[in-house]
Amino acid sequence: MRFLVTAGPTREHIDPVRFLSNPSTGKMGFAVARAAAKAGHEAVLVAGPVALKTPRGVRRIDVVSARDMLAAVMDELPAADVLVMTAAVADWRPARTASRKLKKGEMKPVLELVRNPDILRTVKKSLGASRAKKVIVGFAAETGEPTAEASRKCREKGLDLVVANDVTAKGAGFGTDTNVASFVSPDGSIERLPLMSKDALAARIVKRAVLWYTVDGMKSRA
Ligand code: PMT
Repeated sequence: MRFLVTAGPTREHIDPVRFLSNPSTGKMGFAVARAAAKAGHEAVLVAGPVALKTPRGVRRIDVVSARDMLAAVMDELPAADVLVMTAAVADWRPARTASRKLKKGEMKPVLELVRNPDILRTVKKSLGASRAKKVIVGFAAETGEPTAEASRKCREKGLDLVVANDVTAKGAGFGTDTNVASFVSPDGSIERLPLMSKDALAARIVKRAVLWYTVDGMKSRA
């Protein structure tokens, strides 16, 4: 099968030396791509700016902004069987990006922002009826108990699985080598997983996506 995985943050530039971003290091997404390749699948990784080595057997596409990430995902989507969106995509970007470094005096104390495209919603819309052939996995990063919000995201974005994590929990979230996550399914069922390495969680996500692709999902969509 072919896995398309997004990882890391996006950067939304104000000028060449200033940007809006978040603390994602790419560890979770790189672990998913590595797990997919290790399990014998093709893996394409669309990575925001991170300092990680490309896992063996993985094809990597580097991007900077949310709009770059959307374009790369849409290019690769037709060939993919599974999309796993671990990336922490910036929801907003500056209304204007200067092509040269702004002087302090040229900057206003209030930054005007515009919405970035939602990649998962755009993917879902573009797939239309052919969606039955792809498994779409989203993540939900919350501060606090994440499953209620994850269930809402699962329903609203029409996802096959949401991996929910409380990014303030010990050993979970940004930059850690471990995570504490729950699998939230479209039927509302929740599987709470214990603290484990991001590699172990990634292997479970890959297994779950393959199972959904080969048995559950196809049956329920028949
Ligand atoms: O990279 P690490 O340091 O290992 O950290 C891992 C992680 C904390 C980034 C990861 O575990 C995680 O939670 N990823 C999702 C981060 C996120 O942006 O969550 P969200 O709840 O804001 O978004 C929900 C889903 O919509 C995500 O799958 C996201 O990729 C997607 N999204 C968000 C915004 C947007 N404009 N388009 C999207 O598709």
